[in-house]
Amino acid sequence: MKLKIVPLDPSIHDRGAFSCGHDGVDRYLKSTAAQAAQYFKAATFVLLGLDAPQRILGFFTLVPHAYRDGELDQTTARALKVHKLQQIPMIMLGQLGVVVDLKGRGLGKMLLWEALSRAYAAATEIGGVAVITDPIDNEAASFYARYSFETLHKEPFHRMILPMKTIKTALPEHTTETQASR
Ligand SMILES: CC(C)(COP(=O)(O)OP(=O)(O)OC[C@H]1O[C@@H](n2cnc3c(N)ncnc32)[C@H](O)[C@@H]1OP(=O)(O)O)[C@@H](O)C(=O)NCCC(=O)NCCS
Repeated sequence: MKLKIVPLDPSIHDRGAFSCGHDGVDRYLKSTAAQAAQYFKAATFVLLGLDAPQRILGFFTLVPHAYRDGELDQTTARALKVHKLQQIPMIMLGQLGVVVDLKGRGLGKMLLWEALSRAYAAATEIGGVAVITDPIDNEAASFYARYSFETLHKEPFHRMILPMKTIKTALPEHTTETQASR
């Protein structure tokens, strides 16, 4: 199956038919993603098959995020070399989902690396010391942990982090891997 990942276009892509099995993630795509993109609040990208380009097979959302000085624990701040910054720029991977009937075939991994690649490109233009994400449950947290995301804190919500330096190092290998599998 030939695949592509493009920005969400609500006039073409069928959001109503998408289900990744998690209501909150599905609802975001159906009700919020298009308006959020229209007003530049967040950017959503969808995975499509070239043979049925209106059917969304998966998606992810990126949004800028800033920690203020003191909000980040000292150990993390020092590791990221941001302990003297008042505003710490990050990029949040806000949503990620793969349609239920195609789970387990590597599409989640493909979407994640595309998201990390786009986050890295954005960071080289305007800054961004890490990608953060709030996994919706323990399974999602285990998925992210496979890709070296570490738990930043569990309260008041579970948040995980992957430094941009780590992404920079890992990206070339995964870009080659993805190109080889297409
Ligand atoms: C999490 C999700 C995106 C994974 O997508 P997927 O296409 O099934 O995952 P892949 O087939 O690409 O799997 C990639 C790797 O992650 C592993 N993996 C997949 N789901 C996992 C899970 N829930 N826990 C741990 N590892 C998982 C796979 O075994 C695979 O490992 P491998 O490369 O060593 O074989 C998908 O299950 C989903 O949409 N879940 C519901 C929404 C959700 O939880 N989103 C994430 C948080 S917002």
